Amino acid sequence: MMSEAKLEALLTESRAFPPSAEFAAQANAQPSIYDEADADPEAWWRKQAGRLTWDTAPTKTLEWDLPFAKWFSDGRLNASVNCVDRHVAAGRGDKVAYHWVADKEGESRTITYRQLLGMVCQATNALVELGVKEGDRVAIYMPMIPEAVVAMLAVARLGAVHSVVFAGFSAEALSSRILDSDCQYVITADGAYRRGTASPLKPAVDEALQSCPNVKAVLVVQRTGGDVNWIEGRDYWWHDVVDRQSEQHVPKSFPSEQTLLIMYTSGTTAKPKGIFHTTGGYLVQAATTHYYVFDVKAETDVCWTAADIGWITGHSYIVYGPLVNGVTQVMYEGLPDSGGRDRWWKIIDEFKVTILYTAPTTIRTLMKWGPELPDSHDLSSLRLLGTVGEPINPEAWMWYRRHVGGERCPIVDTWWQTETGAILASPLPGITATKPGAAMRALPGISLDVVDNEAQSVGNGEGGYLVVTKPWPAMTRGIYGDPERFKQTYWTRFPGLYFAGDGAKRDADGDLWLLGRVDDVMNISGHRLSTTEVEHALVGHPAVAEAAVVGASDETTGQAIVAFVTLKLSAEEATKDQAPLIHELREHVARTISPIARPRQIILTPDLPKTRSGKIMRRLLRDVAENRSLGDVTTLTDPTVVNMISQLMTTTPSGEE
Ligand code: WTA
Repeated sequence: MMSEAKLEALLTESRAFPPSAEFAAQANAQPSIYDEADADPEAWWRKQAGRLTWDTAPTKTLEWDLPFAKWFSDGRLNASVNCVDRHVAAGRGDKVAYHWVADKEGESRTITYRQLLGMVCQATNALVELGVKEGDRVAIYMPMIPEAVVAMLAVARLGAVHSVVFAGFSAEALSSRILDSDCQYVITADGAYRRGTASPLKPAVDEALQSCPNVKAVLVVQRTGGDVNWIEGRDYWWHDVVDRQSEQHVPKSFPSEQTLLIMYTSGTTAKPKGIFHTTGGYLVQAATTHYYVFDVKAETDVCWTAADIGWITGHSYIVYGPLVNGVTQVMYEGLPDSGGRDRWWKIIDEFKVTILYTAPTTIRTLMKWGPELPDSHDLSSLRLLGTVGEPINPEAWMWYRRHVGGERCPIVDTWWQTETGAILASPLPGITATKPGAAMRALPGISLDVVDNEAQSVGNGEGGYLVVTKPWPAMTRGIYGDPERFKQTYWTRFPGLYFAGDGAKRDADGDLWLLGRVDDVMNISGHRLSTTEVEHALVGHPAVAEAAVVGASDETTGQAIVAFVTLKLSAEEATKDQAPLIHELREHVARTISPIARPRQIILTPDLPKTRSGKIMRRLLRDVAENRSLGDVTTLTDPTVVNMISQLMTTTPSGEE
């Protein structure tokens, strides 16, 4: 958690920016929205369910058997129909769904809703041919190309379940996710482009599948055209099987509580959790929040969520929310500096993007590259900015407001999680004032609280734990295959309340500030990783005896991984020069989990600080990693260990990316 001093600095620095009259006059959300939702949240959500096209309209709203919720359970619908067919049927087929922008400058594709429908139907027919049936799990491991969205919608159209695995994950991470939910199909690509260079993707799938005997078919999009290893009878080119299919497919409808998706996320143990979401409630809240938080006008807005579909932000705000709302989007394949450090600003200007949504870590990177870059481009099309994924520091917020938003765009700082499915806390543009670094308040229909250790609400000016006190439509329905772990993880810390794992504070005005995780989950560039997951990878290396990992604050990535490692005696003796081994360990973690998990710094130490009962004192290690003065060390078996580690910390260089 953030230090008290830093928090105070942040609060005194903070200013409130009231909504402009101009924005307020045309905003989707009007002030009465909070009262209306507060008066009867279920009735309010029932009304929002009217945003969807149902084959059978629901008569039920919420059934709550803590911690298991059902929303709109007697309703029936098809997710892909809601995203695509209904817009075409309503005469909006020529509207652009995606301006897809390639990594390579100058390369783009424009896909209308009618074209998207044809693509989704073809892919659905291909999946049927490959044997995919309702309820089957399909893993998707793809770069940011239109086929990734098409694949998700095709799986959903059949009532099957997609499990999108971020393409930056290793073969090992992919195989454990495939096995955990027993995916029998995989959709992938031969490779991906990053800053003009093709990097292969299929080899990771091939390696992963060596331990996944149940996978029957792999559908492969050709993106880079490199050589690929091919297994006849298992591997199918997308262009061979999808392109020859009919562009028609008659969809069935499924119950509202049909599982739509699984998204793995890091918890406090080494094993990622398969968070699953069902159809009706998830779509209702994704669309409702997209409509109000981003104030979207389907006719005129061009939305750009600069995230990857491999994370929940991509699911809810590149795929489901915006498509249900029928808006035009930009979908970008590359990195912020593919083709130059002003690439983003060129994209905004070229496609006249009106709403930009991204993570604080990206804003800090863009900020490092200097204000001249955004300042020298025409960004006047923008009218609203959003951030997500980690607390945003006031400096980055102010830079975003000034240099990207031209001092006129409201900034919505949106708090939510893979588990919540959609945004739960955010200012509403046009109504709520904004403060640099605050998520401000719960959205209409959502009940949040900040509580102390005894589950009592804290007063204004006080900090505690963020909890959700009432069920919400897009809440996860659980951890795939492990209802007990679901209860344990989220519902036992404060009985009857959903414990998010975040620290929070109410300021003097009662507004909500997020303060970071209070558990062993780290947030690296907006990506969730558990300390145990990284420790597990480290001790998997033959040279390592023990490892303790902490998230230390970092100027660019929010938090960065610092690992304290003790070596096995044999390795210790063999290690004269530490540098090659440290390099090897960093690469080992990157290979085992993902390059995101590569530690910034590894400190080889003869010992770790432990309590008399043998527990590693992570709090102390975090203090060491953040160069803080050390508190009480009297419970340690050997207090000198900490001083020694502090010494080592200052003499071990940080890794370069
Ligand atoms: C953090 C991402 C502060 C938080 C949508 C949460 C935030 C975790 C914010 C979920 C925010 C997300 N301010 N912290 N606006 N948004 N977080 O599952 O710690 O990848 O618990 O979902 O990110 O990360 P996840």
